[in-house]
Amino acid sequence: MSENIHDVIVIGAGPAGYIAAIRAAQLGFKVAVVEKWLSPAGTPALGGTCLNVGCIPSKALLASSEAYEHASHLDAHGIEVKGVSLNLAKMIARKDGIVSKMTKGIEFLFRKNKITWLKGHGRFVGQADGLYRIMVSGAQGESEAQARQVIIATGSKARHLPGLPVDNHRVCDNEGALSFDAVPARLGVIGAGVIGLELGSVWRRLGASVTVLEALPGFLGACDEAVSKEAWKIFTRQGLAIHLGVKLGEVSVGDAGVRVPYTDAQGVAQVLEVDRLIVSVGRVPNTENLGLENIGLETDARGFIEVDDHCRTRLPGVFAIGDVVRGPMLAHKGEDEGVMVAELIAGQQPHIDYNCIPWVIYTSPEIAWVGRTEQQLTAEGRAFKAGQFPFAANGRALGMDAAEGFVKVLADAATDEVLGVHIIGTGASDLIAEAAVAMEFRASAEDIARVCHPHPSLSEVMREAALATDRRALNM
Ligand code: FAD
Ligand code: NAI
Repeated sequence: MSENIHDVIVIGAGPAGYIAAIRAAQLGFKVAVVEKWLSPAGTPALGGTCLNVGCIPSKALLASSEAYEHASHLDAHGIEVKGVSLNLAKMIARKDGIVSKMTKGIEFLFRKNKITWLKGHGRFVGQADGLYRIMVSGAQGESEAQARQVIIATGSKARHLPGLPVDNHRVCDNEGALSFDAVPARLGVIGAGVIGLELGSVWRRLGASVTVLEALPGFLGACDEAVSKEAWKIFTRQGLAIHLGVKLGEVSVGDAGVRVPYTDAQGVAQVLEVDRLIVSVGRVPNTENLGLENIGLETDARGFIEVDDHCRTRLPGVFAIGDVVRGPMLAHKGEDEGVMVAELIAGQQPHIDYNCIPWVIYTSPEIAWVGRTEQQLTAEGRAFKAGQFPFAANGRALGMDAAEGFVKVLADAATDEVLGVHIIGTGASDLIAEAAVAMEFRASAEDIARVCHPHPSLSEVMREAALATDRRALNM
């Protein structure tokens, strides 16, 4: 086989693309990955949004800022800490170090699996004899690579608001908001979604006065209502000022800061003056300059590549996975699609149950869920029973001073099958995995309740909530 002909070419090395490449290589294919990302130092980097400016750096800062906040609030444990101070440069450097370690880890995995990294921007230039032709433009100039199977995993970028340019100094998207050089005294956040709440929490814990402006009248509409109500109580008590149902006016940026005029939910004109503004109003797929027109592939009206349940586009041998296709923009969803597509190419019959993909919001306490919410089940007319158990009645949670929140289990009224699990509480990101496994195996609430859970542990709250669906929680 000629040097530039591969069995599989993956465009994009975020979590969807790099996992697809590794699985394809494990299955014996000759794999190349086209990736153009440059680190702030200008060095080519693997890992995409997730590793460079998404999941990994945000969770590092969430952990650091939580440790900083906790350090001043250990009185309940009988620990008196005085003189806690912040070294932001060191905190940011720690985060950058983790990013660098992780991205280098993928380079190692590529070498281990003999995956070729084609550094630069990839673009379809045509198709000949069943081979898709991709032009790679990078620092070394242009070169063409070809493959019979191509996986598009080009991911997404922050959506910006019309007339509000992001300079990542005063007005930031996720990239700037992960690397402030000083804690802003007054921080504005547009959008009370996942990024707004996570990064708003980071900077609030580090000392900023944070105001979040959200267009929708409801808070965390994707969550079960019991969870979003509890989250509202906790986050506003922590000091996040969240205004719902706002309509933004024309934002202006000056030397002194950012002026954000808006109309509040009551229709009253207001002005928010801040030192820095984070714009976190969703993400858009990366499909521009990909040469899709050269192979006759179109996107939908919102720019996503259309695929079926198995991530096949309408062209034979062309797949698309991750943020660039429908479904939640989550790293683990993209990873699972990467594995699925590699196995499909190998002739296997994998599938994904999209109903069993867990969601996590890494606030404090964390929020996590899988499956249907109570509101969805009601709208679908499905008869269900609900069981809820608070962390406040769990000895481990009390010992950890983490008694906020609850686990809520929703099960079919007739069959007892678990239909959804909703958690707000410490450790929710790990606890939700049990619920995802249960739902993948179509377990009943009784199944969860009959499994022996370690004592004392937060996982006992899951068991008690499962028991509570039949009103037989033991410790309440
Ligand atoms: P991406 O990670 O966006 O990667 C796409 C890659 O393709 C990029 O490296 C890009 O350079 C490359 N590329 C694009 N076009 C081309 C081209 N033409 N040629 C060559 N290369 C190209 N998700 C979670 O599940 N958990 C979290 O905790 C979480 N936290 C997040 C925090 C933040 C601040 C943000 C912004 C996102 C977060 N996400 C989280 C979402 C997660 O990052 C994305 O869902 C995930 O990165 C999508 O993976 P992907 O591989 O589809 O795309
Ligand atoms: P989001 O979709 O979570 O939230 C955007 C919010 O902005 C919405 O509530 C929306 O109503 C609001 N909004 C939109 N336009 C507005 C306007 N003009 N004025 C005021 N509010 C407006 O998007 P976000 O937070 O940008 O995150 C993007 C995606 O990244 C998420 O949907 C998620 O898929 C992923 N992500 C996942 C994380 C996780 O898994 N923990 C963490 C961070 C991001």
